[in-house]
Amino acid sequence: MFPTLPRPTLIAHRGASAHAPENTLAAFELALKHNADAIELDAKLTADGHVIVIHDQTVERTTDGEGRVGSLTLEALKELDAGSFFDIAFKGERLPTLDEVFAAVGQRTIINVELTNYASLTDDLPGKVCELVKRHRLESRVLFSSFNPLALIRAHRRLPQVPIGLLAFPGSKGALARSWLGSIIPHQTLNPELGDVTPRLIERVHHSGRRVFVYTVNQPADMRRLFDAGVDGIFTDDPLLARQTLAEAV
Ligand code: G3P
Repeated sequence: MFPTLPRPTLIAHRGASAHAPENTLAAFELALKHNADAIELDAKLTADGHVIVIHDQTVERTTDGEGRVGSLTLEALKELDAGSFFDIAFKGERLPTLDEVFAAVGQRTIINVELTNYASLTDDLPGKVCELVKRHRLESRVLFSSFNPLALIRAHRRLPQVPIGLLAFPGSKGALARSWLGSIIPHQTLNPELGDVTPRLIERVHHSGRRVFVYTVNQPADMRRLFDAGVDGIFTDDPLLARQTLAEAV
């Protein structure tokens, strides 16, 4: 794990997505301006094998287009407006490729790449992402995370020095990942959902030498509770608010 990462680490979830369209360069730049320690983004493959940054499996919610990301080419995805859904002031913002994000902010922050090949669990996303990390020489500036254990194992085989976050689904669906059985999967951080974090879970994860990064924490009361409980990091849509809350808490 990077020794330079402060505790708690404030990670901008899809960028500063409370104030700019999620998973766009505008949101990532704003996260840096708002003093996030790291940014988080969602990577998946286009129909023609490029790594694009978008959360959903379909483009409807965050763009003016239609269809499944995995069925659209990079050229088609690049035509979409990924800003207007959030605010007309961001009209014309494009879906970035991972290559573009690495080039724009890779040397200025830590990037948590969520491997979101949830609709195609065995595709070549881990291999493609690792190639980009190597090409940009960002081995010491990225983290990988996923709900897909296979993607984490495959990424870990290619780049064992990159820290891994095992994402646990909320509630009973994530019980296995949060239990000792989750240790079968290589990881340095357990990333549970806010509602599943207990002092006992934090203690057990710390005892195993791992860190706890909690998603998605947007309310100051939750931030304060988690900071007090000793979590190591939070994913938040609003790193500015988290920074202010943390400053008031110490
Ligand atoms: O990485 C934390 C969080 O992003 C996981 O949930 O749905 O936003 O990918 P989701």
